[in-house]
Amino acid sequence: MSKRYLITSALPYANGALHLGHLAGAYLPADIYVRYLRLLGKDVVWVCGSDEHGAAITIRAKKEGVTPQEIIDKYHELNKSTFEKLGISFDYYHRTSAPLHHETSQEFFLKLYDKGGEFEEREVEQYYDADYDQFLADRYIVGTCPKCGHAEAYGDQCENCGSDLSPIELINPRSTLSGKSPVLRKTKHWYFKLEKHESWLRQWIEQGQLDGALHHDPKTWKRHVVGQCLSWLDGGLQPRAITRDLPWGIPVPLPEAKGKVLYVWFDAPIGYISSTRQWAKEQGKDWELYWKDKDTTLIHFIGKDNIVFHCIVFPAMLKAHGDFNLPVNVPANQFLNFEGQKFSKSRGWGIEQHEYLEEFRDFPNKEDALRYALIRNMPENKDADFKWDEFIDFHDKELADNLGNFVNRVIVLSNNYFSGAVPQSGVSLKEALSEVRALAQRLTEEIESFSFRQAVLTLMEISSWGNTHLQDVSPWKLYKEDPDSQAIKDCLFISLQIVALLSLLSEPFIPFTAPRIRRLLGLPAIQRGSLKDAFSQLASGDALLPAGQAIGKAELLFAKIVDRKDDSRLQIVNRQRDKLQQVLAAEQASQRPPAKPEIQYDDFSKLDLRTGTIVAAEKVPKADKLLKLAVDLGTEQRTIVSGIAQHFDPEQLPGQPVVVVANLAPRKLRGIESQGMILTAENEQGQLEFVHAPKGWGNGFEIK
Ligand code: MF3
Ligand code: ZN
Repeated sequence: MSKRYLITSALPYANGALHLGHLAGAYLPADIYVRYLRLLGKDVVWVCGSDEHGAAITIRAKKEGVTPQEIIDKYHELNKSTFEKLGISFDYYHRTSAPLHHETSQEFFLKLYDKGGEFEEREVEQYYDADYDQFLADRYIVGTCPKCGHAEAYGDQCENCGSDLSPIELINPRSTLSGKSPVLRKTKHWYFKLEKHESWLRQWIEQGQLDGALHHDPKTWKRHVVGQCLSWLDGGLQPRAITRDLPWGIPVPLPEAKGKVLYVWFDAPIGYISSTRQWAKEQGKDWELYWKDKDTTLIHFIGKDNIVFHCIVFPAMLKAHGDFNLPVNVPANQFLNFEGQKFSKSRGWGIEQHEYLEEFRDFPNKEDALRYALIRNMPENKDADFKWDEFIDFHDKELADNLGNFVNRVIVLSNNYFSGAVPQSGVSLKEALSEVRALAQRLTEEIESFSFRQAVLTLMEISSWGNTHLQDVSPWKLYKEDPDSQAIKDCLFISLQIVALLSLLSEPFIPFTAPRIRRLLGLPAIQRGSLKDAFSQLASGDALLPAGQAIGKAELLFAKIVDRKDDSRLQIVNRQRDKLQQVLAAEQASQRPPAKPEIQYDDFSKLDLRTGTIVAAEKVPKADKLLKLAVDLGTEQRTIVSGIAQHFDPEQLPGQPVVVVANLAPRKLRGIESQGMILTAENEQGQLEFVHAPKGWGNGFEIK
């Protein structure tokens, strides 16, 4: 392992709240990794912050009718504090609007500019909004998609068909500022000559793939990451514009570039550098060691939509600058869906991090319950799906039944049998814990190779091992025969060591619960290096909890949710499920046929609606959809041919009350005269149901 680590997580745009998919993508995996490195006593810094430039911010400001500054202040605070509440333990959460970041980005730009050969200037034609006196960012132009005809495609992308577009391709382009069609105007921009870097990039990424042959090597790049990069490289790299004509952003530090700013994707990754600098300044450290020393491992945690920027563009920028390390790995995650569909704020599908905390405020362990569910289903190599059913199952069957139950049993038994002191035992821990140590070793390898889903299962395996061992010895049975039996002491001595180990190994995953386990055991709080110390104690056969040490009283770590029907926690989850049902129902309703034109009372009163009962039903030969019905209308019986054969079985229909349009002119269908019509309605699942009067009504009543 290397001497020093610099870990980054994608800087989220400060233009909105983050949902559970973001958490599972770039923040939770990094948190596990960093907490683990800290437990090993590593020198590690984890930086992040708000991405506060770009059209994403100005567009949101315009939508809300406020200034961009108000937007970034609001969402920077919201995102920062929400991360904290979920135990996301950044060392520094900076902002790209900070002066130090502006300075760092401008320096970076000038270094490449002065070096020569990295940039080129181009005069291009771009859309300009004359009313607003400004050039338009791609996102500020909408028009008809040339690929699918969608009328509201953006200048950079059509959200209907997913095509990448350029504003010039849009049919009937309109400015979102003035609503008018923009004019083309000449402007000058600086381009980063990405294509210059193609060949070393290819070699470097292929090396990542090669390392991929080595199992559990942290240099192993994920297959989907390498795949995406190589397909980009195969497409050929082009110069990329790194300046924009926008009133919001970091001014381009050249006299001839008045009114121009750096492109947001140029300055945002430099945010990792400025965040590190700000952290170092406050901590009295040397930031350059973390970026430039060869003994530092740099790792970027991101979602798959950011792969190209972190594996191709930013590395090329770092290389062009010189001096900087390149990332050792970019373990990008894929996407998390929510109950089978994409997160969508506008549809109300999914839940944001801060909403979760608010809605689950009365749910004990809400943070760890969520973290655990997201880790168990982390989209590490393919898209995954978050489901409330699984959320409950993971909590009840794994956290409560396995881990919580093991810890609880060990503490209760130790209190009962030894008045809460660790018993004396002569067992060799080296032997007794050899399987547990092997599992712990595997867990570390899994974390180091970014297999967090697997790692948390291994954590549960250790706890299962403990439960099985307890069950095999069954101290409660031995106790009945001989309360002083050494086997009881040995069993609980071993079990207590496992609980102590779990109090450390679980911390990266469930950092709110781990300290509680420590307290139950009477162990000091976790510190940097605690796990490293524990590993060396175990390796030499020493106890983590020596005989005689006083442990605390038992306390339930996780109570099962579904044990009681009226559990308030179950109600909290059910409210979430209901919400989704409501979203679906509302969408269904909005898809119902549009209202028909208004009619007068006279039109309505022409209808003769009568109650009736179906007395016989049979299929109409050679017609899939038709049933021939005999309907009793009280004073007479009618034959009615109805197009409901695909919805009802004729045998089940006799006795069915119905409402009939009794004065509809007779009509021949397949040679049968139909003397009326039956009223039906379609339910949400698209099934037909009969409209009828309340049960017990007779036939022939008029409905008015
Ligand atoms: N703000 C970007 C997004 O949310 C991510 C920026 S990552 C960094 O997609 F490289 F800029 F930091
Ligand atoms: Zn389209």
